[in-house]
Amino acid sequence: MNDTFLKACRGEKTDYTPVWIMRQAGRYLPQYHEVRSKGTFLELCKTPERAAEVTIQPVDFLGVDAAILFSDILVPLEKMGAPLEFQEKRGPIFPSPIRDQAAVDGLSIPDPEDDLGYVMDTIRILRRELAGKVPLIGFSGAPFTLATYLIEGGSSKNYYQTKRMMYEAPELYGQLLDKITECTIIYLQGQAAAGAQALQIFDSWVGVLAPRDFRDFALPYVKRIISALRRTTDIPLIYFANNGSTLLDQTVTCGADVLGFDWRITLDEVVRKVGQRVAIQGNMDPIALFLPEEKLTERIQNILDQAKGAKGHIFNLGHGIIPETDPQKAKFLVETVHRLSGK
Ligand code: CP3
Repeated sequence: MNDTFLKACRGEKTDYTPVWIMRQAGRYLPQYHEVRSKGTFLELCKTPERAAEVTIQPVDFLGVDAAILFSDILVPLEKMGAPLEFQEKRGPIFPSPIRDQAAVDGLSIPDPEDDLGYVMDTIRILRRELAGKVPLIGFSGAPFTLATYLIEGGSSKNYYQTKRMMYEAPELYGQLLDKITECTIIYLQGQAAAGAQALQIFDSWVGVLAPRDFRDFALPYVKRIISALRRTTDIPLIYFANNGSTLLDQTVTCGADVLGFDWRITLDEVVRKVGQRVAIQGNMDPIALFLPEEKLTERIQNILDQAKGAKGHIFNLGHGIIPETDPQKAKFLVETVHRLSGK
């Protein structure tokens, strides 16, 4: 079993730097399009054999050190009772946004096996098919990021509705976040029970918050999830606060084993600030994959050098790989991280 990724998460010594890529299963891969063309994105998420197939595609093609479950952070929200659509070009849409007491009261807490059994089945298939080749990462969204989709009704620019609820109706906001948090705890516990070997919590949009609002309206829920998981599982927990370098002194207290970073901060500054408290993951700009190989190699070396003093380092991009990326460049990235770090 290649457990290099898990070792780095736990801060144990590794022979080389493990690497995986956020959104490694997806539209930059022709083999993904082939499977995806048979139906909608949500149908793919809900068909365990095919979701497992696209999860494994980048493991085979890129040679990454971890697989990440193919699903989406928004699928549990649908089962809370908020209808979800993915529209080509527009992305995810919740046609009935959650903005008042009645809407919050109408949300329920799904059961992982009864309501989200397709995710658990995908995990079980993957553990069998990966057969120990690389570990499997499960995931969820963080409560703030999930709440933005429910409150805004989809993606957003200014997070106006979300912040308005935070400021004008903090009680209601708290009730909504409590429900999302409870749902996320049992959803992640379900994933761990089904066989996920690490869990990542994606806080994709939390970087739009002022530090005091992060402290009051986002971090407490992340902490609650992590401490609940700690009581039931010992697998590594990763918290990725995208665009969150200004929140670092707070995120380091969240209880995760690993913190993910985007490219807006250098990893030597991260190491200086977090010391040996957590392992780190990241953080190359996804668009750096459009550099010629020589310049890309220099950037990879630079990130590896900056992470040298870390408790553990997992190489990754600072956010998801974009659909326009040349798959061969992604493969080159993985090979180069391995070669330069001593594999
Ligand atoms: O390979 C992997 O990383 C696993 C699969 C994965 C997907 N979404 C597949 C996906 C993961 C981990 C996610 C998480 C996710 N989903 C996040 C957090 C990560 C991040 O990028 O910050 C967020 C914010 C979402 C919500 C979401 N899903 C959006 C905004 C969109 C539309 C924009 C886009 O990139 O298309 C999606 C759709 C989505 N999720 C696709 C994939 C492969 C594209 C769907 C398609 O095939 O058309």
